[in-house]
Amino acid sequence: MISINDYLDKILEDFKEYAQSGEKLCKLKDVRFDAGRLPDYSDKNVQQLYLLRYAYAYTFEYKRMYQDLMALLKNKSQLSVTSIGCGSMIDYWSLTRVFPKSCDICYIGVDVIDWNYKLNGRGKDKVTYINADFVDLISRHAIIPTDVYIFPKSISEFSATAIFRICVELSSLIPDRKPVYFLFSLRSKSASQQIDISKTKLLHKTMLNLGFTSNDDPESFSNFEGEEKDKKIYKVDSSFSHPTDVVEFLVNTLPACCTHYDESSCDNSCKQKLRWWPILSCSQVNYQIFKFVKEA
Ligand SMILES: C[S@@+](CC[C@H](N)C(=O)[O-])C[C@H]1O[C@@H](n2cnc3c(N)ncnc32)[C@H](O)[C@@H]1O
Repeated sequence: MISINDYLDKILEDFKEYAQSGEKLCKLKDVRFDAGRLPDYSDKNVQQLYLLRYAYAYTFEYKRMYQDLMALLKNKSQLSVTSIGCGSMIDYWSLTRVFPKSCDICYIGVDVIDWNYKLNGRGKDKVTYINADFVDLISRHAIIPTDVYIFPKSISEFSATAIFRICVELSSLIPDRKPVYFLFSLRSKSASQQIDISKTKLLHKTMLNLGFTSNDDPESFSNFEGEEKDKKIYKVDSSFSHPTDVVEFLVNTLPACCTHYDESSCDNSCKQKLRWWPILSCSQVNYQIFKFVKEA
C-alpha cells in the first residue's frame, strides 16, 4: 500500500501544474467548512487542495478509529465495511494500516461524487467503489449488509430525513443478534461538532426505536485533550512523517501563484486566503463508535 506522503506528493504534482498555470485561483478560497460552507467536491482542483490539506490528519484519525474498532472485535479474520461518503477512500488506507493482510477485508465505498485519486485495493482485499447517493442506493436495496458502517467526515452532509431512511433500511438488512458497528468522525469546531453529534444521536435513538440495543453513550466521543491536541501527528504515531513538500507549497508558494491578482477587483485579503496550512496536529481527531445488536 502506498505511503500517505507518496500519495500526497503525487496529488501535489498535479496541483502544482494547475496552480502555476496562470489560471485564476478564486475557487480555492472556498475549500472550507466554517459557517455551513461545503467545498465543491466535484471540481478536481478542489479535491486536490482538500486532500493536500486534510488527508494527512484524517488518515491518522481514521487509523485511531479502526484501532479502537479492532480492540472491540478481537482477532477477526474477516471484516466487511461500508464507507458512506468515502471520497477517495482514504479511510480504506487507514483500515489497511490496522488490520493485517491476513484479515480478509471487503470494503464498499459509496460516494455521490466520483472522486479522483481513489486508493487501490491491497492484495486479496475486495474493494468496490459505488458512485451513487447512499440514500437512493439503500432505498433500492442495492447494498449488501456489512459488519461496519463508517461516516468518514460525512455525517454532516446527511439530513435528519436521510438518517431516518438509512436506519429504517439498514434495520431490515442487518441480521438478528449480529453486532454491527457505526463509526463517525466528527468535525472539530465546537458549533459544527454539536450539529454532527445531534445527527449521530438521532441515528442512535432511531436504531433503538427500531429494536436494536446499544450500551454506548451517544453524547460521548474520543478526542485528544489539552496539550495532546496540539501534538504533531508524527510524534504520536511514528508511522507518519511530516509532509514537507505539501506544507512548503501550500504555505509559501501557493499565495503567490495567482497572477491575476488585481487590487481594484480582488478582495484585499485574497492572497492571504490562498495560504492554507495542512492539518498536522491531533486537533481534528473527534470520533464516536456505536455498537448495535438487533434483538430477535
Ligand atoms: C467531507 S467529504 C469526506 C470525504 C472522505 N470521506 C474523506 O475523508 O476525505 C464528505 C463526502 O460525503 C459525500 N456525500 C455527501 N452526501 C452523500 C450521499 N447522500 N451519498 C453518498 N455520498 C455523499 C460527499 O460527496 C463527500 O465526498
